Parts: sequence; structure tokens; C-alpha cells
Amino acid sequence: MENRIIDSNLKDEDVFEKNIRPTSLAEYVGQQQIKENLAVFIEAAKMRNEPLDHVLLYGPPGLGKTTLAHIIANELGANIKTASGPAIEKSGDLAAILSTLEPGDVLFIDEIHRISSFIEEILYPAMEDFEMDIIIGNEGKSKSIKIDLPPFTLVGATTRAGDLSSPLRDRFGIVNKLEFYTDDELKNIVKRTSKVLDMPIDEDAALELARRSRRTPRIANRLFKRVRDFALVDGDGHIDLAITLQSLDRLKVDKYGLDNIDIDYLNALIAKFNGGPVGIETIATAIGEEVSTIEDIVEPFLLQEGFIKRTARGRVATEKAYQHLKIVNQNSLF
Ligand SMILES: Nc1ncnc2c1ncn2[C@@H]1O[C@H](COP(=O)(O)OP(=O)(O)OP(=O)(O)O)[C@@H](O)[C@H]1O
Ligand SMILES: [Mg+2]
Repeated sequence: MENRIIDSNLKDEDVFEKNIRPTSLAEYVGQQQIKENLAVFIEAAKMRNEPLDHVLLYGPPGLGKTTLAHIIANELGANIKTASGPAIEKSGDLAAILSTLEPGDVLFIDEIHRISSFIEEILYPAMEDFEMDIIIGNEGKSKSIKIDLPPFTLVGATTRAGDLSSPLRDRFGIVNKLEFYTDDELKNIVKRTSKVLDMPIDEDAALELARRSRRTPRIANRLFKRVRDFALVDGDGHIDLAITLQSLDRLKVDKYGLDNIDIDYLNALIAKFNGGPVGIETIATAIGEEVSTIEDIVEPFLLQEGFIKRTARGRVATEKAYQHLKIVNQNSLF
């Protein structure tokens, strides 16, 4: 996929990202219900002097899963060890990680839907009984021995909860689905970022950025970063509405926050496939994108905003999509 200004996938974990990441529940904007519940569970775990139950965080990219995982560890006063699903290839990889755990640690596994089934098998007793079975010796003469692990909390993150096997999903005591953010919440995130970076932004400019951020904090911050550049080079460093609108225009982010890929998607759906229903593979081929990109990044937002609907027979464009592209819906004229 081409580099996309409103791509919510994390490209470089740069200094910027590090500085602006909230570190406590109080600083974490939005996701009210999740925050309130987590605060109680964390408090209770601390009172009982037990590890927090395992936590699964899922939702589209850039909504704050990794951030929240670190916050959970902070609020527990625990150390966090991080791993990523695809990087755990052999059982030894997981064993090595598990054997470094100390009592109360948080083990964060990102993209947990991508661990293979035999790795899952090792995870089950580790999660349930804090035990790990390891095989020693070689064929014929091998035996399995049990090793005790210290009590720990597994925090798993995924953009695709549906790809998790149900035995794995069932072993998480706390399951949270992160929701898209409201304009107001995103405005607060932009204002917070501007404060942290000491780059003032006007109220109306912050709101405009919020509106065009696909309801996603990572995109709000990324747009802020770009607008900051325009304000510095073309303006006097102060971020007002005029420079913001001008920047967004140059970045080709439209008033709903849709960019070229979204527009290509909607155009294909409407112009090539008569508004659907059409299968996702067909659309993906038509616009030259990966199915997974479309499923994880493009569609969740288009669905959320009501530009498309998912039906049993495939994707369908809504009236809102026709209006946005200024195409008359022939299907509704009779
Ligand atoms: N609730 C929030 N309040 C303030 N800033 C946030 C919030 N959620 C996310 N952010 C900001 O957005 C950025 C992206 O968040 P994060 O990396 O946690 O997303 P993610 O859900 O882990 O994404 P991915 O699925 O791509 O791993 C962070 O750097 C953080 O600064
Ligand atoms: Mg992440």
C-alpha cells in the first residue's frame, strides 16, 4: 500500500509518537466505559495483591490499544514486556519470553491473532495456571516437564478479534473493544498534543483536524504534525483555521477525512459494480489493494460513517456515498 497520510498503521515509532503518548488513565482521552472499568479492576487487583486478569484489547488500528497496554502496566506499577504475534515463531521463542517474567509483570502481545496454534497451546496453561510445559530430550526419549511461572497479566491486542481462536479468547477475563472517537474527544487529543509539543493551535482549527481524522487518534496526531509543518513554513508557526484548511486541502483529505483510497473504493463500488452488492475480493482487485488493508483500515471507517453496508451478498454503497461522490443513484430512481 502506498504511504497514506491518513493511514492509521504505525510506520515509525518515532520520538514524536513517544512524547505524545499518554501514560495514565487520566490522560487517556475517551473510551470512558473501558477506563472506568479498568480503574476498578486494577484497583481491586492491587488490593488483593494479585495479578490483574488477562486483558484483550481489540479494534481498528490507531485507536490506542498499545497505548492502553502501557497505561495498564503503569497503573499497576508493573513492568511491561512486549512481544508481537508474528515474531513468536517457535515454541522456544515464547518459552524464552515467559521465562523472563517476574511476579506481577505485564506481558503485552501485539497482533496476538497472528500466533500459530501450537504457540497457543503453550499459552493456555501459562495463562490459566501460570505453568509452562516444556519438552526435553529428543524423539523417543523426550519427556515433558512443568515449570512454574510467576503470576503475570497477559495483555493481548488485535485488530481482528474474529481471527482469534475461541479457546484463546475465552482465557481473557477482561475483553475490551475500543470504539472510534468523537470529534470532541479528538479535538482534545489534538489540543493535548499541541500543548505537549508547545505548538499552539486555535480551537476551531483543532476541531477541523478532529473532524477529518477518521475518528482515529493516530491520524489526528499525524495530521497535526503535517499542519504544523505548513504553519511553520508558510505561516508564522501559529496554527489557525486558515492554515489548517489550506494544509488539509494540500494533503487531499476531504471534509469527511476520506482520502484517495477511500474514494477509489467508493468509486469502484458505485461506478464499476453499480453500488453492489459485491464481494470484497472483487473490490480489492479492482482498486489494486490487499483484501486485508481494505478489511482492517478502509472498511471499518466507511461502515462506521454509513458510506457502505455489509450484507450477506457483499458490500453495498449507501445513499450517503452516492451523494458524497455526486453521483445519482440510478437504483433509487423509479
Ligand atoms: N485515548 C487516547 N488519548 C490520547 N492519545 C491517544 C489515545 N489513543 C491513542 N492515542 C494516540 O494515538 C497514537 C496511536 O495509538 P496506539 O499506537 O496505541 O494505537 P493501536 O491501537 O495500538 O494501533 P495498532 O493497531 O496500529 O497497533 C498513540 O501514539 C497515542 O499518542
Ligand atoms: Mg499498537
